[in-house]
Amino acid sequence: MIPAYAQSPRLLFRSPESSDAPTLVRWLNDPEVTVHIARTLPIGLEEELSWLKARAGDQRNITLLLVSRDGDLPIGCAGLRDIALPDRKASFGIMIGEKECWDRGFGSEATEVMLGIAFERLGLNRVELQVDETNPRAIRVYEKAGFRNEGVARKARFQNGRFVDVRQMAILADEWRANRSPVAGTVCQT
Ligand SMILES: CC(C)(COP(=O)(O)OP(=O)(O)OC[C@H]1O[C@@H](n2cnc3c(N)ncnc32)[C@H](O)[C@@H]1OP(=O)(O)O)[C@@H](O)C(=O)NCCC(=O)NCCS
Repeated sequence: MIPAYAQSPRLLFRSPESSDAPTLVRWLNDPEVTVHIARTLPIGLEEELSWLKARAGDQRNITLLLVSRDGDLPIGCAGLRDIALPDRKASFGIMIGEKECWDRGFGSEATEVMLGIAFERLGLNRVELQVDETNPRAIRVYEKAGFRNEGVARKARFQNGRFVDVRQMAILADEWRANRSPVAGTVCQT
Protein backbone atom coordinates (compact mmCIF):
# COMPACT_ATOMS: atom_id res chain seq x y z
CA MET A 1 0.00 0.00 0.00
CA ILE A 2 1.33 3.45 -0.95
CA PRO A 3 1.79 5.58 2.19
CA ALA A 4 -0.33 8.70 2.51
CA TYR A 5 1.37 12.09 2.68
CA ALA A 6 -1.60 13.68 4.44
CA GLN A 7 -5.11 12.86 5.50
CA SER A 8 -8.41 14.50 6.33
CA PRO A 9 -11.64 13.05 7.64
CA ARG A 10 -12.72 11.60 4.29
CA LEU A 11 -9.58 11.70 2.15
CA LEU A 12 -6.05 10.35 1.91
CA PHE A 13 -3.47 12.31 -0.07
CA ARG A 14 -0.77 10.27 -1.76
CA SER A 15 1.60 10.41 -4.71
CA PRO A 16 0.14 9.13 -7.95
CA GLU A 17 1.71 5.90 -9.21
CA SER A 18 1.96 4.52 -12.74
CA SER A 19 -0.92 2.19 -11.87
CA ASP A 20 -3.09 5.32 -11.42
CA ALA A 21 -2.41 6.48 -15.00
CA PRO A 22 -5.52 4.84 -16.58
CA THR A 23 -7.74 6.58 -14.03
CA LEU A 24 -6.04 9.94 -14.63
CA VAL A 25 -6.37 9.47 -18.41
CA ARG A 26 -10.09 8.77 -18.01
CA TRP A 27 -10.57 11.99 -16.04
CA LEU A 28 -8.41 14.06 -18.39
CA ASN A 29 -10.36 12.92 -21.46
CA ASP A 30 -13.72 13.87 -19.96
CA PRO A 31 -14.67 17.31 -21.34
CA GLU A 32 -17.03 17.98 -18.43
CA VAL A 33 -14.13 17.55 -16.01
CA THR A 34 -11.53 19.47 -18.03
CA VAL A 35 -13.61 22.34 -19.40
CA HIS A 36 -12.25 24.59 -16.65
CA ILE A 37 -8.67 23.38 -16.54
CA ALA A 38 -5.95 24.18 -19.03
CA ARG A 39 -6.17 20.77 -20.64
CA THR A 40 -8.14 20.65 -23.85
CA LEU A 41 -6.20 18.19 -26.00
CA PRO A 42 -6.72 14.44 -25.77
CA ILE A 43 -4.25 12.47 -23.71
CA GLY A 44 -3.15 8.84 -23.95
CA LEU A 45 -1.63 6.42 -21.49
CA GLU A 46 1.94 6.88 -22.77
CA GLU A 47 1.78 10.66 -22.38
CA GLU A 48 0.35 10.38 -18.89
CA LEU A 49 3.00 7.84 -17.87
CA SER A 50 5.74 10.17 -19.20
CA TRP A 51 4.21 13.05 -17.24
CA LEU A 52 4.12 11.00 -14.05
CA LYS A 53 7.73 9.93 -14.59
CA ALA A 54 8.85 13.53 -15.17
CA ARG A 55 7.06 14.63 -11.99
CA ALA A 56 8.68 11.93 -9.82
CA GLY A 57 11.17 13.66 -7.55
CA ASP A 58 10.26 17.11 -8.90
CA GLN A 59 10.65 19.42 -5.89
CA ARG A 60 8.97 22.37 -7.59
CA ASN A 61 5.73 20.62 -8.53
CA ILE A 62 3.76 18.48 -6.12
CA THR A 63 0.79 16.46 -7.30
CA LEU A 64 -1.25 14.40 -4.87
CA LEU A 65 -3.95 11.89 -5.61
CA LEU A 66 -7.11 12.33 -3.53
CA VAL A 67 -8.29 8.94 -2.35
CA SER A 68 -11.66 8.45 -0.69
CA ARG A 69 -11.12 6.70 2.62
CA ASP A 70 -14.52 5.11 2.11
CA GLY A 71 -13.65 2.37 -0.40
CA ASP A 72 -10.03 3.40 -0.99
CA LEU A 73 -10.92 4.85 -4.40
CA PRO A 74 -9.14 7.74 -6.16
CA ILE A 75 -11.59 10.60 -6.80
CA GLY A 76 -9.30 13.36 -8.02
CA CYS A 77 -5.99 15.11 -7.66
CA ALA A 78 -4.61 18.40 -6.40
CA GLY A 79 -1.29 20.11 -6.80
CA LEU A 80 1.06 22.91 -5.91
CA ARG A 81 2.93 23.96 -9.03
CA ASP A 82 5.89 26.22 -9.68
CA ILE A 83 6.96 26.32 -6.05
CA ALA A 84 9.27 29.29 -6.10
CA LEU A 85 12.05 30.61 -3.88
CA PRO A 86 12.79 33.22 -2.60
CA ASP A 87 9.16 34.31 -3.14
CA ARG A 88 7.89 31.22 -1.28
CA LYS A 89 4.81 30.97 -3.45
CA ALA A 90 3.09 28.34 -5.56
CA SER A 91 0.10 27.89 -7.87
CA PHE A 92 -2.77 25.71 -6.70
CA GLY A 93 -4.79 23.37 -8.89
CA ILE A 94 -7.47 20.79 -8.16
CA MET A 95 -9.59 18.37 -10.14
CA ILE A 96 -12.23 16.05 -8.75
CA GLY A 97 -12.28 13.60 -11.66
CA GLU A 98 -15.19 11.48 -10.46
CA LYS A 99 -18.14 13.69 -11.30
CA GLU A 100 -20.54 11.93 -8.94
CA CYS A 101 -18.28 13.25 -6.15
CA TRP A 102 -18.90 16.90 -7.07
CA ASP A 103 -20.83 19.02 -4.59
CA ARG A 104 -20.16 16.62 -1.73
CA GLY A 105 -17.55 18.76 0.00
CA PHE A 106 -14.48 16.88 -1.22
CA GLY A 107 -13.06 19.85 -3.12
CA SER A 108 -13.37 22.09 -0.06
CA GLU A 109 -11.83 19.46 2.20
CA ALA A 110 -8.93 18.88 -0.18
CA THR A 111 -8.29 22.60 -0.65
CA GLU A 112 -8.01 23.09 3.12
CA VAL A 113 -5.50 20.28 3.40
CA MET A 114 -3.45 21.49 0.43
CA LEU A 115 -3.24 24.94 2.03
CA GLY A 116 -2.08 23.31 5.26
CA ILE A 117 0.64 21.52 3.30
CA ALA A 118 1.62 24.75 1.55
CA PHE A 119 1.83 26.95 4.63
CA GLU A 120 2.74 24.56 7.43
CA ARG A 121 4.84 21.88 5.85
CA LEU A 122 6.45 23.74 2.97
CA GLY A 123 6.62 27.13 4.67
CA LEU A 124 5.16 28.99 1.70
CA ASN A 125 3.90 32.55 2.04
CA ARG A 126 1.48 32.77 -0.87
CA VAL A 127 -0.70 30.37 -2.84
CA GLU A 128 -2.29 31.68 -6.01
CA LEU A 129 -4.59 30.38 -8.71
CA GLN A 130 -6.51 31.31 -11.81
CA VAL A 131 -10.15 30.32 -12.20
CA ASP A 132 -12.63 30.85 -15.02
CA GLU A 133 -15.39 33.31 -14.15
CA THR A 134 -17.71 30.64 -15.61
CA ASN A 135 -16.74 28.17 -12.85
CA PRO A 136 -18.85 29.29 -9.85
CA ARG A 137 -18.44 25.97 -8.04
CA ALA A 138 -14.67 26.34 -7.93
CA ILE A 139 -14.88 30.06 -7.04
CA ARG A 140 -17.12 29.15 -4.09
CA VAL A 141 -14.60 26.55 -2.88
CA TYR A 142 -11.73 29.02 -3.10
CA GLU A 143 -13.63 31.84 -1.42
CA LYS A 144 -14.61 29.52 1.46
CA ALA A 145 -10.96 28.54 1.85
CA GLY A 146 -9.99 32.21 2.16
CA PHE A 147 -8.63 33.02 -1.29
CA ARG A 148 -9.11 36.69 -2.17
CA ASN A 149 -9.80 38.22 -5.55
CA GLU A 150 -6.86 40.02 -7.09
CA GLY A 151 -8.20 40.92 -10.50
CA VAL A 152 -9.51 39.63 -13.76
CA ALA A 153 -7.72 38.79 -16.98
CA ARG A 154 -10.28 39.66 -19.63
CA LYS A 155 -11.15 37.01 -22.23
CA ALA A 156 -8.03 35.08 -21.27
CA ARG A 157 -9.33 31.58 -22.06
CA PHE A 158 -11.13 30.07 -25.01
CA GLN A 159 -13.81 27.76 -23.72
CA ASN A 160 -16.59 26.01 -25.63
CA GLY A 161 -16.47 28.42 -28.53
CA ARG A 162 -16.13 31.68 -26.60
CA PHE A 163 -13.55 33.69 -24.72
CA VAL A 164 -14.09 33.90 -20.98
CA ASP A 165 -12.65 36.08 -18.23
CA VAL A 166 -10.22 34.49 -15.78
CA ARG A 167 -10.06 35.54 -12.14
CA GLN A 168 -6.77 35.72 -10.25
CA MET A 169 -7.06 34.71 -6.59
CA ALA A 170 -4.53 34.24 -3.82
CA ILE A 171 -4.22 33.59 -0.11
CA LEU A 172 -1.31 34.57 2.12
CA ALA A 173 0.03 32.53 5.03
CA ASP A 174 -1.09 35.15 7.60
CA GLU A 175 -4.62 35.20 6.18
CA TRP A 176 -4.80 31.40 6.26
CA ARG A 177 -3.61 31.27 9.88
CA ALA A 178 -6.14 33.91 10.92
CA ASN A 179 -9.07 31.99 9.41
CA ARG A 180 -7.92 28.47 9.91
CA SER A 181 -10.69 25.84 9.95
CA PRO A 182 -10.57 22.62 12.00
CA VAL A 183 -10.08 20.45 8.87
CA ALA A 184 -6.71 22.07 8.22
CA GLY A 185 -5.55 20.71 11.53
CA THR A 186 -5.74 17.18 10.18
CA VAL A 187 -2.70 17.58 7.97
CA CYS A 188 -0.27 14.96 9.18
CA GLN A 189 1.67 11.97 8.05
CA THR A 190 0.08 8.61 8.54
C1 LIG B 1 -14.30 22.70 -8.72
C2 LIG B 1 -14.18 21.46 -7.84
C3 LIG B 1 -12.73 21.25 -7.41
C4 LIG B 1 -15.06 21.69 -6.59
O1 LIG B 1 -15.02 20.53 -5.80
P1 LIG B 1 -16.40 19.97 -5.17
O2 LIG B 1 -16.06 18.83 -4.34
O3 LIG B 1 -17.38 19.77 -6.27
O4 LIG B 1 -16.83 21.24 -4.30
P2 LIG B 1 -17.51 21.26 -2.84
O5 LIG B 1 -18.60 20.26 -2.79
O6 LIG B 1 -16.46 21.19 -1.81
O7 LIG B 1 -18.08 22.73 -2.81
C5 LIG B 1 -18.84 23.24 -3.89
C6 LIG B 1 -19.49 24.54 -3.46
O8 LIG B 1 -19.94 25.23 -4.64
C7 LIG B 1 -21.33 25.43 -4.54
N1 LIG B 1 -21.85 25.39 -5.90
C8 LIG B 1 -22.04 24.35 -6.71
N2 LIG B 1 -22.51 24.75 -7.89
C9 LIG B 1 -22.61 26.10 -7.84
C10 LIG B 1 -23.04 27.10 -8.75
N3 LIG B 1 -23.46 26.79 -9.98
N4 LIG B 1 -22.99 28.39 -8.33
C11 LIG B 1 -22.56 28.71 -7.10
N5 LIG B 1 -22.13 27.80 -6.18
C12 LIG B 1 -22.16 26.52 -6.56
C13 LIG B 1 -21.84 24.32 -3.65
O9 LIG B 1 -23.09 24.61 -3.08
C14 LIG B 1 -20.72 24.30 -2.62
O10 LIG B 1 -20.80 25.40 -1.74
P3 LIG B 1 -21.29 25.19 -0.19
O11 LIG B 1 -20.27 24.29 0.44
O12 LIG B 1 -21.30 26.56 0.37
O13 LIG B 1 -22.65 24.55 -0.28
C15 LIG B 1 -14.71 20.18 -8.58
O14 LIG B 1 -16.08 20.33 -8.85
C16 LIG B 1 -13.95 19.91 -9.85
O15 LIG B 1 -12.88 19.34 -9.80
N6 LIG B 1 -14.46 20.32 -11.01
C17 LIG B 1 -13.82 20.04 -12.30
C18 LIG B 1 -12.42 20.63 -12.44
C19 LIG B 1 -12.34 22.08 -12.01
O16 LIG B 1 -13.20 22.89 -12.33
N7 LIG B 1 -11.26 22.38 -11.26
C20 LIG B 1 -11.01 23.73 -10.80
C21 LIG B 1 -10.30 24.52 -11.84
S1 LIG B 1 -9.91 26.17 -11.29
